[in-house]
Amino acid sequence: MLMTVAPARALRGTVAVPGDKSISHRAVLFNAVAAGSARITNFLSGADCLSTIACLQALGVPIRRQGEVVEVQGQGLRGLRAPARVLDCGNSGTTIRLLAGLLAGQSLRATLTGDESLRRRPMRRVVEPLRRMGAHIEGADDGDRAPLTIHGRPLRGGSFALPIASAQVKSALLLAGLLADGPLTLTGRIDSRDHTERMLRAMGIELEVAPESITLMPPRTPELPRPLSLRVPGDPSSAAFWWVAAAIHPAAEITTVGVCLNPTRTGALEVLQAMGADLDIKNERYEGLEPVGDITVRSSRLRGVTVEGALIPRLIDEVPVLAVAAAYAEGETVIRDAAELRAKETDRIAAVAGELTRLGARVTPTEDGLVITGGLRLRGAPVESYGDHRMAMALAVAALAADGETQIAHADCVAVSYPGFWADLERLRCA
Ligand code: S3P
Repeated sequence: MLMTVAPARALRGTVAVPGDKSISHRAVLFNAVAAGSARITNFLSGADCLSTIACLQALGVPIRRQGEVVEVQGQGLRGLRAPARVLDCGNSGTTIRLLAGLLAGQSLRATLTGDESLRRRPMRRVVEPLRRMGAHIEGADDGDRAPLTIHGRPLRGGSFALPIASAQVKSALLLAGLLADGPLTLTGRIDSRDHTERMLRAMGIELEVAPESITLMPPRTPELPRPLSLRVPGDPSSAAFWWVAAAIHPAAEITTVGVCLNPTRTGALEVLQAMGADLDIKNERYEGLEPVGDITVRSSRLRGVTVEGALIPRLIDEVPVLAVAAAYAEGETVIRDAAELRAKETDRIAAVAGELTRLGARVTPTEDGLVITGGLRLRGAPVESYGDHRMAMALAVAALAADGETQIAHADCVAVSYPGFWADLERLRCA
């Protein structure tokens, strides 16, 4: 689908962004192996989370979904059944990597694959440590690429130093650890999003989180993990598109309500604050295991900043839209330590640099980030999303404040994480 986005005269309104993608995946995956049934509300019915549901159903887990409400009948830690067909994880890295961990210790064989983008993404980061736990996994390029075939085996615990801050790797190992013969300890880059740790603890799993390490004890009783019913908070990675749209547009005020404010996810808010965004956070509260709040952003005069180091994992999915904010800011923005962007749905360093340049921005890709010189007027142009949902939405945001129309190719990919994105955009746009 080619989507034409015209500049907006003004942007105003309130959006309840859809449920968080990471938490939605985990809610169904973990409850699938719980000892009982759970009900999940405000579930993200984006394509990625629907891939997770379909894979779990093929593994014998009864799951009923009606819109944003999902009921999962947990089968217990050892209750998954061998699937009759290849499991299609679609576009979803979280689905394939977390399932690899969950299935490694089951007594079944399963093959996991996905779309063209997913089959290009690196899998060694999960396959290699899982093999060290005793897993038997086959895959193209010595296990670095899907399709991956997992031959369930008894697993060992042990100690692993994580070389990259990836919540998918951390979560895959913790899920494998549930079936290991002894404790599993993770050290190194454990500073990625911590939804898995929060949820497994709430399900009764003995999990010790220290500043430098995480230790999981495999449960010894069949009552664990306990089922966990929850309401999924709004996705900060989806809300970020509206924060930037409001900040860069000269006549805007947008409020996003019920957004997850877990500190491992709020890097983009901090960067926008440092850039001088007119932003406030109200009504901070807890929704189940996660802090949430309502965020209002108004038209702002932004200035360039440096984004690096420990901040990067806390905003990794927001880099494309933060690059748009930087293109509309005064001065230079430098993003570094973000080589992980090259391993996302597309190479986001190359894609952001290439497409924002087509709109008239000055962007230089570096090995591990971007240098953006802001302040030039952007003009609408044909651009490519590369089928990457966050590229399509970031380009749409850039188009709202540009001169003239922008045509975004393969724009239907927004359905991966935010199926109502185009409808919300039209609602916020003032005629
Ligand atoms: C996710 C972790 C991140 C993130 C992705 C979702 C998760 O990926 O980019 O969108 O739910 O665990 P990495 O684990 O590769 O950093």
